[in-house]
Amino acid sequence: MPLTLKSLRTGALRQRLTTAGRYDKSTWVRFVSAATGESSSLPDIQASRLQLSPTGSPKSLPQASGLVFGHTFTDHMLTIPWSAASGWGAPEIGPYGHLTIAPSATVLHYAQTVFEGMKAYRDERGKVTLFRPDMNMKRMNNSARRVALPGFDGDQLLECIKELIRVDKHWIPSQPGYSLYVRPTLIGTEAAIGIHPPQDALLFVICSPVGPYYPRGFKPVGLFGTTEYIRAAPGGTGAFKLGANYAPGVVAQKDAAHLGYEQNLWLHGPDHHLTEVGTMNLFVVFKRDNGALELVTPPLDGMILPGVTRDSVLELAKGHASKKYEVPGLTDSLVVSERPVTMKEIKDASEAGTLVEFFGTGTAAVISPVDRIGYMGSDVHIPTGPDGMGPVSKPIWKELVGRQTGTIPSDWSVVVCE
Ligand SMILES: Cc1ncc(COP(=O)(O)O)c(C=O)c1O
Repeated sequence: MPLTLKSLRTGALRQRLTTAGRYDKSTWVRFVSAATGESSSLPDIQASRLQLSPTGSPKSLPQASGLVFGHTFTDHMLTIPWSAASGWGAPEIGPYGHLTIAPSATVLHYAQTVFEGMKAYRDERGKVTLFRPDMNMKRMNNSARRVALPGFDGDQLLECIKELIRVDKHWIPSQPGYSLYVRPTLIGTEAAIGIHPPQDALLFVICSPVGPYYPRGFKPVGLFGTTEYIRAAPGGTGAFKLGANYAPGVVAQKDAAHLGYEQNLWLHGPDHHLTEVGTMNLFVVFKRDNGALELVTPPLDGMILPGVTRDSVLELAKGHASKKYEVPGLTDSLVVSERPVTMKEIKDASEAGTLVEFFGTGTAAVISPVDRIGYMGSDVHIPTGPDGMGPVSKPIWKELVGRQTGTIPSDWSVVVCE
């Protein structure tokens, strides 16, 4: 009898498998199929089923100093197939290589794809850690559901990813600032033209050794305030990490570059509310009348990607402001706000001398200082400190990088191998 949603739901097959000793509640977990919206009992991702097929021809390791972000990949990749009929298949770590999918695969036509970005760090003693990977697993599940791709057990996927990193850990440069960028991706692979929840999908994870974003010290960037296009809208998909969100942003980025700016600033609505910087979350620091510094980031209103770095910056700043712990070097007169900010507020503050700093946050760059915003024909100038960073971002960056790399002990750092 074939394994089908119907047969599992009626319990007939479950009964037969139980009698045969092949049905075990702990491994056949219950989940809600994102494809059908129906409750079913098909296998979820199970790290215990992971198979390893090592490459027969390992590549030679690249020179760390020559790495270009996202251009070099390790020897292995993780793949986990899914189908609506049989759930998640056995995870496999095999040689990094091309995928075979049909030209009719839904991902190629309807952008049925979601992805994540996280980093693994290796210290000089060889200990490898990930930074808050549970947040990436949660966000990937949320993104998958938004485009009717299947959900999965994030803890089990994380165990498989840790194994992939262990297999390729010698690819992580141990020099300060270097890391392994880990890119989990989920695509709809059903070979059928037609817009519906894909009946087949593939989750894969690839890894890329990367160097520091600013190898020669912080270099503040200029932003171009985009008023021609928007990145997201209420009820849209801006809060999810979908492939479909990124292709339309390339034109805005190209336009910004053409005008001499490094990145574009996404604005929204008639009041030009600030939302994100290119592919980063944004923070602004204002000086208030009483001399206190206010660290502001726009709220998670459905248009903003809930960044792991954003959350970490907020948590550190709020913890410091409430005296729960101390971020060395950060002012005690700090107020932390998640509230809307408009370009008018930024312009007015720049003119009044109360704009203290502006920066983007994201896994790739961690913190990226900004020194000007091209807006409606002129530049809004933003102060930067002598080394490119401001009085709030600098101490937070130090604390964050310390926690990411393990030099500052923290629950956020998850051990992959000692
Ligand atoms: C649109 C967008 N916003 C913000 C971020 C920052 O998120 P995180 O800090 O999790 O890297 C990213 C990067 O993934 C992004 O693509």
